Amino acid sequence: MFYTSINNRIALVTCILACFCCVQSLKYQYESSFTPNHIQYLKNETRLLFKHAWSSYMQYGFPADEVLPDTCEPYGPDYNNVDNVVRNDALGNTSSTILDNLDTLMIMEEWEELERALEYLKSEEKTLFNKDTIVQVFETTIRSLGGLLSTHLLLTDVTKGNKILPSRYQKFKEISDNYDGFLLNMAYDLGLKLLPAFKTSTEIPVPRINLAKGVLKVPSNLQKETCTSGAASPVLEFTLLSKLSGDPQFEYYSQLTFWKLWSSRSALDLMPMSIDPIANKWKDQITGIGASVDSFYEYAAKASILFNDDYMWHVFKTSYKALLAHSVQGGGDNEGVMIFGNVGVNDGSLASIWIDSLGAFWSGLQVLTGQLQDAIKTHLMYLKLWDHFDSIPERWNFLLNKSQLENDDSEAIMLEWYPLRPEFIESTYYLYRATRDPMYLQIGARVLELLQTKYKTICGFHGLQDIRTGNFQNRMETFVMSETLKYLMLLFDADNEIFLHTSMMSNKNWIFSTEAHPMWFDKRLDPYNFTHSRSADKQNMGTLKNSLFAKMKSKFSRSKRKLTTADEKTFYRNITTPRVITYEMPGIIENGDIHKIDPLESKFDKCEVNVFNNKPSMLTVSGYYQLSSFFYPDHAFKYSLIKPRYLSKSALDGSCVELTPSFLRIFAMSGPDNTTKYHHQCPRTSTTTYLELVLGNIEKAQSVEISRLKYKRKQPTEYISLQEDDLWVPDFSSIRLKIEKLSSGLIDSENMLITDSFIQSIRVDDYNAEIGMSAANQSVSTTKDISLVLRIKKINGISVKPGQVVWTLPFEINTSIIGDSSIGVASDNRVVLQGNVVENLKVWYG
Ligand SMILES: *[C@@H]1O[C@H](CO)[C@@H](O)[C@H](O)[C@H]1NC(C)=O
Ligand SMILES: *[C@@H]1O[C@H](CO)[C@@H](O)[C@H](O)[C@H]1NC(C)=O
Ligand SMILES: *[C@@H]1O[C@H](CO)[C@@H](O)[C@H](O)[C@H]1NC(C)=O
Ligand SMILES: *[C@@H]1O[C@H](CO)[C@@H](O)[C@H](O)[C@H]1NC(C)=O
Ligand SMILES: *[C@@H]1O[C@H](CO)[C@@H](O)[C@H](O)[C@H]1NC(C)=O
Ligand SMILES: *[C@@H]1O[C@H](CO)[C@@H](O)[C@H](O)[C@H]1NC(C)=O
Ligand SMILES: *[C@@H]1O[C@H](CO)[C@@H](O)[C@H](O)[C@H]1NC(C)=O
Ligand SMILES: *[C@@H]1O[C@H](CO)[C@@H](O)[C@H](O)[C@H]1NC(C)=O
Repeated sequence: MFYTSINNRIALVTCILACFCCVQSLKYQYESSFTPNHIQYLKNETRLLFKHAWSSYMQYGFPADEVLPDTCEPYGPDYNNVDNVVRNDALGNTSSTILDNLDTLMIMEEWEELERALEYLKSEEKTLFNKDTIVQVFETTIRSLGGLLSTHLLLTDVTKGNKILPSRYQKFKEISDNYDGFLLNMAYDLGLKLLPAFKTSTEIPVPRINLAKGVLKVPSNLQKETCTSGAASPVLEFTLLSKLSGDPQFEYYSQLTFWKLWSSRSALDLMPMSIDPIANKWKDQITGIGASVDSFYEYAAKASILFNDDYMWHVFKTSYKALLAHSVQGGGDNEGVMIFGNVGVNDGSLASIWIDSLGAFWSGLQVLTGQLQDAIKTHLMYLKLWDHFDSIPERWNFLLNKSQLENDDSEAIMLEWYPLRPEFIESTYYLYRATRDPMYLQIGARVLELLQTKYKTICGFHGLQDIRTGNFQNRMETFVMSETLKYLMLLFDADNEIFLHTSMMSNKNWIFSTEAHPMWFDKRLDPYNFTHSRSADKQNMGTLKNSLFAKMKSKFSRSKRKLTTADEKTFYRNITTPRVITYEMPGIIENGDIHKIDPLESKFDKCEVNVFNNKPSMLTVSGYYQLSSFFYPDHAFKYSLIKPRYLSKSALDGSCVELTPSFLRIFAMSGPDNTTKYHHQCPRTSTTTYLELVLGNIEKAQSVEISRLKYKRKQPTEYISLQEDDLWVPDFSSIRLKIEKLSSGLIDSENMLITDSFIQSIRVDDYNAEIGMSAANQSVSTTKDISLVLRIKKINGISVKPGQVVWTLPFEINTSIIGDSSIGVASDNRVVLQGNVVENLKVWYG
């Protein structure tokens, strides 16, 4: 009923029957109405959860770093074992929960608790970081340094000069008025302690530091590997610290690292994930968007916003385009789900078959950078994971097939824990702000319900040690409050009552740091104009700053000491080499009838908004029920979306968030009588398979021209075969193709049944094909499989839409490399690949 537009297609199934996760017989505590009152209730409940976690910490954990939620004990570093980095990296015996949650206290409007925490920190101003503990520079930067900088900004630059403050913020104003800037002093002190890690001869920081005793007191075995995120991301907090404190050295050293890493990227514009900072060497040749490299992209985008930095924006755009070209799995747009896999940085070949829990942040970043359609597709996969696991596995296998499953059904969940990470709810928050679609509130309500009934424990919240068995872990990391509960609260702030969403913040370029600390910067905050300035000699600082940055620039141009590549063998590469004949382009572009649009670059021309196109009269309808691919992942990944056995027994067994009866009744546009409400139809999963083909030298992929054609005037008759929106790819010398294999009886990715007559209509009978221009009249040997037709779905990361034709110029094949039957051109200008006609690739003879 929802898919009238595709009713002419033949392959429809009833989604509910085909959705593998649903159980309809649940009792729900609430109706999913999302009226203002209901949303207020969800906010209130979230606040209660925060109060529970916070008071547990203050009563049983404080002043240690954390509280253990099951046993109500304080928790800090493992003093007996310095090698226990999993535990020690984020714990410095520095009351980390406090440092990470000062701004959470403001968002939750816990003003008395905020006063108490500030009082404690004031009393520890000079001593808090004088601890003989080894911490990770990155974790300490994002949790503690970021928390201090954010709170400093919030206390100095929100309520000041605000005459018409809502009465609920009077206490906030009072606290701000009494604040003397000491948190910036503490941030400066912590920054000075972390900075020596950056002063290496390679310009890449060592990963760890002893807070009291410095970098030399860290055993060298702990310093041999740092990840790209860890080395590059401090650039945001450090640059902000320099700008607020007036001391340029934090900015100088962290920027040096950032730009060195970027200049050491691969020819495909991809960044490996780990580094040996002593040997000046990459340690792997793999990249993705999840653990170890995630916040590199995040901070390129966010630093560009914070510091109005075009170079940083260029880094983000270039990276995003490279990831679209090489990392995104699957054939094309219509599959409706985007999975950014891990790939080799040198050839873009798939390097692992999992995505991770941290990668769920990516759709939030996509929203922030204007890529809303992509964000929805990326988020959809994580929604389906949450449906099945009530959580997101640390690593999940997206390529599991049936034969693997029969051997070992644990293969679906490759790393089995879920420590209540925030990334999925974070992205849900961004998507709700961008679309206001009720589905995101529904997801939030579901997460809230699980936090209340499943993850809440005596002294806080515990996540899962093993998603497969449901065993909990006795740990509550600081991000449970500072991110998971914070983003949930902000998601439910539909009426913009929390000060971050009010006009108090609307004139600021604020972003959330990777640890959900709000940050912003502008000229008014310049240290030369800063009232709480320390005793730094501002005159000297200016001179120092100039000379430091001059030094940085000369260093870049002089040394060019990039990281060396890893020792591993390069990946296998499928290279055939069609040589492009360079001659004058057949006048189509020059004459002004057509102009060309770069499909990837134009993605950044404007932010996509309101993609669901909800009309005012349809405000109670979720746009999700109009997505033809809404249930695609349930089918496509049915062998690894396997609900653990224990979950199907309990009351909250992970039944589909999007198919909750009360939500469906209101937001799924049910029919007039109740009997039709579950008859939602959706396309059946395609049964075609894909092949991936690399032509030429893939390292040049970023410079290959791919354009969309646009007629400026009425289309001249001589170009009648070139349609508006066709793709123009004159040079096939560096191309990654995702090709769908079509044969009779299969259902394709456009939900069409492939028929014999379709195959016959595409087939070229004569096969008296020409190869290119110069070797014309050579006969291509007969096809190997005449029932097979190929269709390009993607070309260097650009989806080829139904009906779009990819045009290229005549090319010549070096037959001594690939054999004379590999590529040819049929009489109707279609390209023939190894005897199989490509439906949508044609040669333009002008
Ligand atoms: C939410 O809490 C406030 C007080 O904190 C209360 O006044 C209000 O009635 C509550 N709303 C709902 C819907 O529970
Ligand atoms: C941890 O910090 C507290 C002060 O907050 C201090 O009393 C204690 O000695 C520290 N523990 C260690 C082992 O350094
Ligand atoms: C399924 O997995 C097995 C084991 O990894 C592999 O050998 C086989 O080729 C896979 N089959 C398909 C259809 O991908
Ligand atoms: C100093 O701050 C004030 C407002 O706080 C602003 O008007 C002024 O432009 C700032 N001066 C500089 C040099 O940035
Ligand atoms: C490249 O081609 C070879 C031989 O046709 C094939 O075995 C291999 O799987 C292909 N590799 C990739 C990465 O597609
Ligand atoms: C549909 O269900 C609602 C409650 O679930 C009920 O009030 C209503 O009468 C039903 N309508 C029809 C036509 O059966
Ligand atoms: C192709 O063959 C036709 C006849 O078979 C001939 O007239 C034509 O000249 C040939 N073209 C070239 C480029 O050799
Ligand atoms: C064709 O490829 C062979 C083998 O790589 C090479 O020796 C030859 O120079 C190539 N010919 C042309 C015309 O590029």
